[in-house]
Amino acid sequence: MRKKDSEDLVRVGPGTVMGGLMREYWLPAAMSPELRADGEPMRLLLLGEQLIAFRDSSGRVGVMDHRCPHRCASLFLGRNEENGIRCVYHGWKYDVDGNCVDTPNLAGNPDFKSRIKAKAYQTVERNGLVWVYMGARKKAPPLPQIEATLLPEAEVTISFVQRECNWLQALEGDIDTSHFGFLHAGAIDPDDVPDDSLFRFTVTNRAPDYHVADTEAGTMYAAYREASPGRTYWRFANFMLPFWTQTPQGKFTEHLHNRAWVPMDDHHTMFVSLMWRQHPPSIGPNKRGQMMPGFQRQFDYLPNTTAWHGRWRLKGRPENDWLVDREAQARGGNYTGITGIHAQDQAVTESMGPVTDHLFEHLAPSDRMIMATRRRLLKAARALAKDKTVPPGVDNPEIMYPVRSGDFVTDAKLGWRQAYDGQMRAAVRPLREAAE
Ligand code: FES
Ligand SMILES: [Fe+2]
Repeated sequence: MRKKDSEDLVRVGPGTVMGGLMREYWLPAAMSPELRADGEPMRLLLLGEQLIAFRDSSGRVGVMDHRCPHRCASLFLGRNEENGIRCVYHGWKYDVDGNCVDTPNLAGNPDFKSRIKAKAYQTVERNGLVWVYMGARKKAPPLPQIEATLLPEAEVTISFVQRECNWLQALEGDIDTSHFGFLHAGAIDPDDVPDDSLFRFTVTNRAPDYHVADTEAGTMYAAYREASPGRTYWRFANFMLPFWTQTPQGKFTEHLHNRAWVPMDDHHTMFVSLMWRQHPPSIGPNKRGQMMPGFQRQFDYLPNTTAWHGRWRLKGRPENDWLVDREAQARGGNYTGITGIHAQDQAVTESMGPVTDHLFEHLAPSDRMIMATRRRLLKAARALAKDKTVPPGVDNPEIMYPVRSGDFVTDAKLGWRQAYDGQMRAAVRPLREAAE
């Protein structure tokens, strides 16, 4: 990879190539319950911009530059009252759209405020998520139609987890299937896995083959291995522009699970997971009825703070070596000695440093999906920067809706596209079914 490619991929601040691409799309920024009407303003870092978010007396959400347009005092200190945020320095007040509605320190000059506007971004709330549009359009594009974001709030589990590294290396963990048989399951004996579990194939043959292709919305791969003579075990996963993934671990037809890797700044990423509650657990217990070692699924959080990087941090962190238990690692069962699948992914991607040095890497045939995805991102971002080509899914968000991932077994005679199409026809679509 060339240095310029690497820099264009990882930088997300204003005026950067990738930052430009991301600003075309709506960004999932917070969970609705994080903001209370007339409650404390929240520091929010998005694409390298320091913002505050607050919910006004009428329940509307405002997201704006944290600096007061008067003399730059932070509106984080502001008073959230009577449908606006009031700067505590000289009392200027702004509504959620950024209009200055009061300048009480200017005696006899009631019109001055009409010249002042806070740098506010458009927001929308839907199904438990607060979305922000940081692009240049006056009228924002339509909202995303990522399937899990359309489900009612009560039907999805929404989780946020901060990761202390660049967004791209964090995301690439989701489209790097061969790590599953090592990082998460490298010490699991196939004989401990129930015979009817698809997971057995991952730990029996840890070196799958791949198909990779560009799609309308991003990229897709199928990793495959022989399941038994004449049968193929498939693992399909997707990347969707600009930062969405669907992982292969889960029963394809019911695997309604979308994941976003939203850059906070170049060195911090907010992982946003939306999982359909009715999706069956992807990996069951071992033959003795116990959870596979190290497979705990809960997130072990530190308390949130109000700092710029204070939201949704895990207890396992770079400073404590991600709580690696060397004895557990040596004992067998848990390959890493780190507990929790997400914590294991977090540890290895953070261990690469704040931004992976792409020039130090040696990509292999198992990384073809990663290469294809980087190319896809650069292509879309540069077409936008150079020719103003609107990236896929911005004006046509419906292309994101049907995309699905997961694992399954078919007759080995089926080609990968046929195998995928067959599963897509059988996919459970709770929204469509609710509408019928
Ligand atoms: S700095 Fe905010 S009102 Fe003066
Ligand atoms: Fe992983």
